Amino acid sequence: MGRRFDGKVAVIAGGASGIGLAIARRLVAEGGRAVLGDVNRSALQGAVSEFGAQVRPATVDVRVEAQVAAMTEAALAQFGRLDLGFNCAGLGIFGELVELEEAQWDTVLDICLKGVWLCVKHEARAMAAHGGAIVNVASLNSQIPMYGGGAYSCAKAGVEMLSRNAALELAPRAIRVNTVSPGLTETPLTTGVRADPQLEAAYLQRIPMARAASPDEIAAAALFLASDDAAYVSGSNLIVDGGWQTTGYPDLRPFARGIKAARAAR
Ligand SMILES: NC(=O)c1ccc[n+]([C@@H]2O[C@H](COP(=O)([O-])OP(=O)(O)OC[C@H]3O[C@@H](n4cnc5c(N)ncnc54)[C@H](O)[C@@H]3O)[C@@H](O)[C@H]2O)c1
Repeated sequence: MGRRFDGKVAVIAGGASGIGLAIARRLVAEGGRAVLGDVNRSALQGAVSEFGAQVRPATVDVRVEAQVAAMTEAALAQFGRLDLGFNCAGLGIFGELVELEEAQWDTVLDICLKGVWLCVKHEARAMAAHGGAIVNVASLNSQIPMYGGGAYSCAKAGVEMLSRNAALELAPRAIRVNTVSPGLTETPLTTGVRADPQLEAAYLQRIPMARAASPDEIAAAALFLASDDAAYVSGSNLIVDGGWQTTGYPDLRPFARGIKAARAAR
C-alpha cells in the first residue's frame, strides 16, 4: 500500500464501525492520522484501541453543532491541523411515508443530512488555513427510491446536493467536496438484510456482481476522492454498487411486515 496520506489529518464522523472504521484503517495504513467521532462510546473505544497514537476518539452526536465543533477542534488540538473530512454517520428507519412518524423522519434527516452539513461546516472552517478534501457518504438511494425508505432516500439525495453546493462554495478555499454512494455493504447497518435469506436474495438478484461490497471496497473509493489522485475532482458522486444502479432497487413490499417485526423485536 502507498503512503498517500503521510502528514495528513482527518476527522471521520461515524468512524467507530463499518465504512468509517474501514476508512480509518486504510488511512492509517497510508500514513494518515485521525480523530474518530461517534455517538456510540463503547464501539468508539473498541475501534480506537486497535490503533496507536495516530487515532484519537471524540464522542459526538452529529446532530449537535457544539459537539461537531468540538470534534474538529480535537483534531486541531491533538494533531495541529485538519486536512480531510469523512462524514459517514448514518442510519435508516424503515417505514412507508404514510405511516412514518414525524420523530422518525426527523431522526433520519437530522443524522443523515443535517449532521453531514454540520460536519462540512466545521471541517471547512478548520481547514481554512491550507485547504483540504471532504468526502460525504450518501447511498445508492441518493439516486434510487427504496420502498419504506423515503426518509433515508430523501436525506441521501440531500447529501449529494449538499456536497455539490459545498464544492461550489469551498473551491475558492482550496477545499474539494465529493460524495461516495455505496450499494449494499457488509456492515452492522445491513445485518437485518443479510439475516433473512429471502430478503438477501431479493437484493442480490438486482446486483449484477451478485454480492455485497466489503467496507474496505467503499473505503478505497472514499480515499481515492480524498487523495491527490482526485486533485481535479469536486462535486462528483461516485457510485460504488457492483453495477446495481443499472437494475434498480428490489421490490420490498413483500418484506415490509417482516422488516417491521424484526425492528420491533430489537
Ligand atoms: N452498509 C450499507 O449497505 C450502506 C449502503 C449505503 C450507504 N451507507 C451509508 O454508509 C454510512 C456508514 O454506514 P455503515 O454501513 O458503515 O453503518 P454502521 O452502522 O456500521 O456505521 C454507522 C456509524 O454511525 C454512527 N452514528 C449513528 N448515528 C450517529 C450520530 N447521531 N452521531 C454520530 N455517529 C452516529 C454509529 O454509531 C455507527 O458507528 C451511513 O451513512 C450509511 O447510510 C451504508
